[in-house]
Amino acid sequence: MAYKVGFIGFGGMISGYHLGAIRRDDVPFEAVAAFDIDPERREAAEKAGLAVYSTPEDFFEAGGYDLVVVGTANNYHCEMVCRALEAGFNVMVEKPAARNAGEVRKMIEVSEKTGKLFTVHQNRRWDPDFLMVKQALADGVIGKPRVIESRIHSANGNGDMYGWRGMKDHGGGMLLDWGVHMLDQLLWMAGEPVKTVSANVLSYWSEEVDDYAKVILTFESGLVAQMEVATYSPIPLPRWVVTGDRGAFRADEIGSPALNVRRITEDSLSRDPVKAFEDFKVVERLQSRHRIAGFEEFSYNKTPGGGWHSLYQNLAGVLAGTEELIVKPCQVLRCLEVIDAAFRSSEEGVKVTF
Ligand SMILES: NC(=O)c1ccc[n+]([C@@H]2O[C@H](COP(=O)([O-])OP(=O)(O)OC[C@H]3O[C@@H](n4cnc5c(N)ncnc54)[C@H](O)[C@@H]3O)[C@@H](O)[C@H]2O)c1
Repeated sequence: MAYKVGFIGFGGMISGYHLGAIRRDDVPFEAVAAFDIDPERREAAEKAGLAVYSTPEDFFEAGGYDLVVVGTANNYHCEMVCRALEAGFNVMVEKPAARNAGEVRKMIEVSEKTGKLFTVHQNRRWDPDFLMVKQALADGVIGKPRVIESRIHSANGNGDMYGWRGMKDHGGGMLLDWGVHMLDQLLWMAGEPVKTVSANVLSYWSEEVDDYAKVILTFESGLVAQMEVATYSPIPLPRWVVTGDRGAFRADEIGSPALNVRRITEDSLSRDPVKAFEDFKVVERLQSRHRIAGFEEFSYNKTPGGGWHSLYQNLAGVLAGTEELIVKPCQVLRCLEVIDAAFRSSEEGVKVTF
């Protein structure tokens, strides 16, 4: 049996990604209808074989959806999600769930009141590089993690601020666009309460919205996580650099096939780890990069697999009552609270404590 999906908004992400994901053989959903305010997008939806609607009333009235997927510009998310929940449908909204935590609270409230499912398309929880980093930490590859650095610079995958993405009231800007993916990944991977948030959120080139953000999170265990998104930097920095008490690893790109690990050997660890680190520095400075006293270098490429479509497979399990929802509303709320805190930290020059 295929679960029926109706789309609100049939723009780039819905037509370019969701439609194809839903039409995979291993994803038990079927796209049946779309509502969009733009006649050209309705025409595109019709060509793709969907029933099309020009008003939300007609779209809801036609009904029959097991899931409504909202993929409009960010400023319409909260209104459309609440209307779809109130019309009696389960809803998944594109990221960022909303422009701020207040809007997320409202959507959760309506979901609880109506008893309908509410979740968010945090598809980058299934990015292969992220899954590999998460697995490597779970495997203790570099011991206890101390600092996780997550970066997106324009040269390795950032988007430009065109159209509504450049408008503040539409929920534009890079912290909401890319930052929400990166912070969701960090919060989910850390799996513990965030303690403080400090940030610099800047607009170098954009008139209204941020095009650079650095957010530093500290967690209760002492773990530090940092995300940096730099739209207009032409220098690619590694996607991930993670340092632990036994070594470090890096992955250069989104989708890097492996992590490059440098780790203190068991032998050096048992003798004198501080000495091994000192030897390492001296050898790095004076001799070949490859002769590293007390250290080993290797590639790590273990990953639990899956891909962005795994999110739809999880939703199918949730609708069938056989699986727990992976992208939980409370996690989405915490992520938007962190983003609110980051804007505040930057504006007021303070470290925000949770
Ligand atoms: N998860 C991801 O990796 C990812 C990638 C890209 C975009 N997105 C998200 O997807 C959403 C859409 O982004 P996009 O790039 O497809 O934008 P887009 O501008 O291409 O598409 C938005 C569509 O919504 C329609 N629309 C706008 N207001 C509407 C309303 N009130 N009612 C009905 N339809 C309306 C527009 O006509 C347009 O067709 C955003 O929230 C964005 O952040 C997510």
